[in-house]
Amino acid sequence: MSFHAKMAYDATFQKSARELAPDDAPFAYTPENRARLDAILERYPADRKRSAVLPALYLVQYQQGYITPGAMRAVAEALAITPADVEDVVSYYTMFHTRPVGKYVLNVCRTLSCAVNGAGRVVEELCAKLGIRPGETDPTGTFTLVEVECLGACDRAPVVMVNDAWHECLDPAAAGRLVDDLRARGEAALSGCLHKVEEQ
Ligand code: FES
Repeated sequence: MSFHAKMAYDATFQKSARELAPDDAPFAYTPENRARLDAILERYPADRKRSAVLPALYLVQYQQGYITPGAMRAVAEALAITPADVEDVVSYYTMFHTRPVGKYVLNVCRTLSCAVNGAGRVVEELCAKLGIRPGETDPTGTFTLVEVECLGACDRAPVVMVNDAWHECLDPAAAGRLVDDLRARGEAALSGCLHKVEEQ
């Protein structure tokens, strides 16, 4: 017995066909990234290519830094879904960017575990260090600061995800050192749990 009203199933419900914003910049994967995408697509049945939408979008973002409407159209074509389907995914996940961002995106978790363990002070330190507010990119184009919801490592709060690398148990001083380290050593300063599309 269910207390919920029955939902009518509409086969067209999940197939959005709305138009995306016009975009002057068409997108094409590099041959290397297209080969990576093709290898990923081989893991799915021909009529389930949409299952590869997350790695397909990651490859776009790795290639050009953010995801344009033209790139969403290219992903849609590659996966045999509508551009609006792709936009739905892009707009849902905070790790996808639809405008240029810095080389390093500092995603500070602000959800409960991180909040009660000092995420607010971490944000304050990063704002002071970089001279920007959440949502902004520093004048050098190196750092973008973003506040995000739970990153799934609540027992290691506060957590800051830098691009795809989790940095855990950060206090304000450690967050400041992380920025210094990124300035000094670049990507070699990224540590923790790294996500790579090629390893999925
Ligand atoms: S609350 Fe911050 S990682 Fe879950």
